[in-house]
Amino acid sequence: MTLSSLWQPFTLGGVELPHRLALAPMTRNRANPDGTPGDRAATYYGQRASLGLIITEGTQPSADGQGYPNTPGIYAPEHVEGWRKVADAVHAGGGLLFIQLMHAGRMSHPDNTPHQRQPVAPSAVSAIQDIATAAGPQKTPVPRELSPEDIETTIADFRHAAASAIAAGADGVEIHGANGYLLHQFLSPNSNHRTDSYGGSVENRSRFVFEVARAVADEIGADRVGIRLSPAMPLGGIDEGGAVSVREQYLHLVGELASLNLAYLHLHHVGNDELLRTLRQLWPTAVLVVRDGRTREQIADDIDAGLADIAPLGRFALANPDVVERLRTEAPLNEMDPATIYGGGNAGYIDYPVLARA
Ligand SMILES: Cc1cc2nc3c(=O)[nH]c(=O)nc-3n(C[C@H](O)[C@H](O)[C@H](O)COP(=O)(O)O)c2cc1C
Repeated sequence: MTLSSLWQPFTLGGVELPHRLALAPMTRNRANPDGTPGDRAATYYGQRASLGLIITEGTQPSADGQGYPNTPGIYAPEHVEGWRKVADAVHAGGGLLFIQLMHAGRMSHPDNTPHQRQPVAPSAVSAIQDIATAAGPQKTPVPRELSPEDIETTIADFRHAAASAIAAGADGVEIHGANGYLLHQFLSPNSNHRTDSYGGSVENRSRFVFEVARAVADEIGADRVGIRLSPAMPLGGIDEGGAVSVREQYLHLVGELASLNLAYLHLHHVGNDELLRTLRQLWPTAVLVVRDGRTREQIADDIDAGLADIAPLGRFALANPDVVERLRTEAPLNEMDPATIYGGGNAGYIDYPVLARA
């Protein structure tokens, strides 16, 4: 299988990208205790700027939104100053920076947030998952159900975070609607038991995601906003029902989101290519597709099949700051070190070697 389709330029939200790769969002748990990205974050993302579109690790839009220890925020003035250094480093390397706005919802623990409050969610239903905390893995508690007023505040938090990202010099934001976090918790019938206009039917369960996307697009412009979804992804105790309910949910949601003309739809895809093809046909702009466990030879497959425009890379890019050059020149790839993925210092963060220059 050839990777040649990766080397075609692509215009995203009016900006030309040199190729079809991107950096997939990856949590690294190395922010300062106040949620400011550390100076090493600028080095880490700057080293990877040749990936073109740089999507950051999940970044909380509010104190409530934090799920894990030492993840960065984008809601306080000091966060904006920290992200500005990252934006400058990525721009110096010719990349575009999209900050991923991630509200963890029930996938959190009071020990992991600055205010140590009970996590919030659409309904008071625990994910029943082990979550990493400073004291070791703990069970996710039963969350507090968001009131209608809390929902409005949360949407306003996303709006404020998006404005803060732009103030920091980012080119856009990616709304995290995937992988079992707050937005996905609204979509799934096993985590959303609400009886108001945010729960029950497919239309109601889609409402929160749509309102967040609409508010963020209104705040910073639709061409600066992407959204990540993961139909049927079981992470975080999510069960969206069988293929029929998943299809119904995402046809409706993606159909609604399509009307906003966002910069891109990013699918963390598990299975069902027929659904992927249908969602692509519904979507008016760029589609990014990531699948777990792709081999190097499979990276361009979804582009070749007409299912995607861009193939973001996670683990290969984590371990290879120059992954673009390595793929282009068919050079070997560094292996990722599992011990240094989450948290820690420079090791496994900014010290992965680049190819030696001839
Ligand atoms: C260390 C690590 C952290 C991740 N953190 C996030 C995250 O913060 N937000 C998100 O949407 N996905 C996250 N993911 C999922 C990746 O974006 C990607 O979808 C997944 O790793 C599959 O791609 P890959 O096989 O190229 O790594 C993470 C993956 C890894 C390996």
